[in-house]
Amino acid sequence: MKKIQILAIVGSFRKDSYNLQLAKATQDLISSHADFSILDYSELPFFNQDLEASPPDSVKEIRQKVSQSDALWFFTPEYNRSYPGLLKNLLDWLSRSPGPTLAPVIANKLAAISGVTPGMSGTLVAQEHLVALLNFMNLRVLNSHRLAIPSVKSQISNGKLELQESLPFLKAQCQAFLEFIDNQKRL
Ligand SMILES: Cc1cc2nc3c(=O)[nH]c(=O)nc-3n(C[C@H](O)[C@H](O)[C@H](O)COP(=O)(O)O)c2cc1C
Repeated sequence: MKKIQILAIVGSFRKDSYNLQLAKATQDLISSHADFSILDYSELPFFNQDLEASPPDSVKEIRQKVSQSDALWFFTPEYNRSYPGLLKNLLDWLSRSPGPTLAPVIANKLAAISGVTPGMSGTLVAQEHLVALLNFMNLRVLNSHRLAIPSVKSQISNGKLELQESLPFLKAQCQAFLEFIDNQKRL
């Protein structure tokens, strides 16, 4: 049977990003149950309607990867109590139809959201903003298990994220998302 395809979208291009490290920890946990890959969208240009008629290859490649996935898993930092502009730019591209009679590739995708921050909010406010945007774009979001990790420095050792108290919550989110995908695919 074909494995579930999950595409991770990390809202930070920082080399040592905690959110990227969280995505990699998720990959380690879930890879025996699903194909989990991390989307590289670092070449994506700023959205410009003038580019829409003949989009750059990076847009076509990203649309294809999103289209082939069963589900998306967002790992978002919190910037100024919202999600970063990188994510908004990517989602603006994905919100647009690839052709006159085609639906946007992201419509109806299933989505999970996690985030990690050194601060106290754990990205909760950013996640609320992201949920509002994803709802508007007709994604189906797993809301009952969203993971928000505050004060991440307590789980960092030599610059590396070594999940301790957050590990059971990440495992629970993995399990819940796999069940959510399975249930939604049966509908
Ligand atoms: C422009 C900017 C705004 C930020 N705003 C917030 C914020 O509102 N809440 C918060 O908890 N952390 C905030 N931070 C700190 C980030 O959570 C921190 O830099 C984090 O490491 C970014 O995620 P990353 O490690 O995945 O790159 C902000 C950082 C930047 C650069």
